[in-house]
Amino acid sequence: MADKKIDVVTGGNKGVSYGACRLLAEAGVRVVLTARDESRGSEAVDKLRSEGLDVHFHQLDITDSKSVHWLELHLAKDFNRLDILINNAAILTDRSLSSLTLDLDTLTRMMDTNMYGPLRVSQALVPLLEKSPAGRIVNVSSWFGSMAEMQGGGYAAYRMTKAALNALTQIMADDLRGTSVTVNAACPG
Ligand SMILES: NC(=O)c1ccc[n+]([C@@H]2O[C@H](COP(=O)([O-])OP(=O)(O)OC[C@H]3O[C@@H](n4cnc5c(N)ncnc54)[C@H](OP(=O)(O)O)[C@@H]3O)[C@@H](O)[C@H]2O)c1
Repeated sequence: MADKKIDVVTGGNKGVSYGACRLLAEAGVRVVLTARDESRGSEAVDKLRSEGLDVHFHQLDITDSKSVHWLELHLAKDFNRLDILINNAAILTDRSLSSLTLDLDTLTRMMDTNMYGPLRVSQALVPLLEKSPAGRIVNVSSWFGSMAEMQGGGYAAYRMTKAALNALTQIMADDLRGTSVTVNAACPG
């Protein structure tokens, strides 16, 4: 049990990452499923635990530095190490907005979650990931963030946030070169 890998997933209460939590736990990883809403997160964890899976809940709002700090303290105290961080949590509220109609409040909110969120969480947890023999950060991106996919209209802020997340992924991967931690992006769907 002591050798089990420890995985943190952000926004794990539903969608893509809820399935990822189940798959990782089934593969023998101890999963810390985090969610910004305590009751939604606990409900998701209860379901997975009722299937006999090693999944634990911790509250985390990735836009709140204090909340990120609490998670960091909890992980340090309980495990003193982290093996996998999946930066999954994101919002998409701009389906019909173009670069000409997009308001800066919408862009700021989406940046705060989709780009600053993964940055905040990664910066806080890299010291624990460095204690793993093979720490892994996976940023959940989208083909919408690919520079080759900027045509077609709509989703202006979402595209910008995911393009920025892709840049962060490459920059942090380079900054961690030579350590035990690798950083990659994955695009579901
Ligand atoms: N679904 C797709 O087809 C698709 C395709 C390409 C990329 N992606 C990417 O895959 C990831 C998951 O997508 P999804 O479709 O599964 O999304 P989703 O169903 O909308 O779930 C998003 C999750 O993020 C959480 N979240 C939002 N803001 C948060 C915050 N400030 N702090 C903590 N958690 C927060 C949500 O919590 P609440 O439940 O409290 O709102 C929810 O758990 C995203 O990064 C998305 O951009 C998805």
